[in-house]
Amino acid sequence: MEHFCCFGCVSERDQEPHAETRHSRDYPWQIYSLKELLHATNNFHNDNKIGEGGFGSVYWGRTSKGIAVKRLKTMSAKAEMEFAVEVEILGRVRHNNLLGLRGFYAGGDERLIVYDYMPNHSLITHLHGQLAADCLLDWPRRMSVAIGSAEGLAYLHHEANPHIIHRDIKASNVLLDTEFEAKVADFGFAKLIPDGVTHLTTRVKGTLGYLAPEYAMWGKVSESCDVYSFGILLLEIISGKKPIEKLPGGVKRDIVQWITPYVQKGAFNNIADPRLKGKFDREQLRLTVMLAMKCTDSSPENRPSMLEVVDWLKNNGGVGKRKKEVTDMEDMVEVEDKTDTRGDYEGFAVVEKCAPRTTRARSQRR
Ligand SMILES: Nc1ncnc2c1ncn2[C@@H]1O[C@H](COP(=O)(O)OP(=O)(O)OP(=O)(O)O)[C@@H](O)[C@H]1O
Ligand SMILES: [Mg+2]
Repeated sequence: MEHFCCFGCVSERDQEPHAETRHSRDYPWQIYSLKELLHATNNFHNDNKIGEGGFGSVYWGRTSKGIAVKRLKTMSAKAEMEFAVEVEILGRVRHNNLLGLRGFYAGGDERLIVYDYMPNHSLITHLHGQLAADCLLDWPRRMSVAIGSAEGLAYLHHEANPHIIHRDIKASNVLLDTEFEAKVADFGFAKLIPDGVTHLTTRVKGTLGYLAPEYAMWGKVSESCDVYSFGILLLEIISGKKPIEKLPGGVKRDIVQWITPYVQKGAFNNIADPRLKGKFDREQLRLTVMLAMKCTDSSPENRPSMLEVVDWLKNNGGVGKRKKEVTDMEDMVEVEDKTDTRGDYEGFAVVEKCAPRTTRARSQRR
């Protein structure tokens, strides 16, 4: 079978199951045979299916280490492009907090991407899915997932060459390994940013609820769009709420609209996921919420960089350190009293200094 020639040709290989996979000469990934992957996934059996996304379905595969195989749904120029971008980008990046590409198969109408299987699934499974009731994500794990995903993103923005904007940061794209360490996944939407370019205008992709307003409305994409999505993710991690909730009567409310009144009143404890049963560090919670508010500022120029986010989460998420930056964050909101005010909001003089949040992101999921 002929192989797809994407970024450096790959040679034809034998099609025996279990045949040793080859490394291409120039790239760290493996080239799998279709038979190998059919065998590993039991012919893409429904029982092996982990989930389904816009790109296709993901299957668990039995090999010596365990793999996850993403199978492209339909072949189209767009899907082919996303496949090519994903393979190209994942092949370039190596970071402990980014999901590594194991290999791929491309032939005929099949496009398959092979990753390490992540036994602890994704954040979405723990926050809103099958494992939500088990509450395996205690507060320290949540903070470590926040830091890990921030570090993965900071690497993409600041260290990868050319810089990479992810464009689809969300809970299902943060996977968790055996140690619950975060691995940011899905670079099919990513944009490579040439040196010296501050932003690009592009067709809007991504997921409703996570889109920065300037991106949703004008297609203006820059690193700060990922920072916005990361801010939404942070609020989701802390609160266990979905980015957009449907209220009785069909009205939709986004997570920032839900959180803002609590922030204004200094009632931070009300924001914490009830499944934590009060077991969280109150100061860390407050500081992390303030950071998330900064990340989701409607003006991109007011958002921090991912390097600042990492620094801030690592150094200031601990109580009382580096007071100066903490004070900067607090400039967003002035309250007379910041003690826990659960159930008693009277008497607060709130001066909101945030940019008006009139333009929340609204766009169709692709
Ligand atoms: N390597 C992996 N190990 C374990 N689970 C995975 C792996 N890759 C993906 N998944 C899970 O499989 C499911 C489908 O993933 P997929 O990326 O196709 O869709 P999605 O993230 O829900 O949406 P989108 O297509 O917008 O990214 C998700 O729940 C995802 O967390
Ligand atoms: Mg995904």
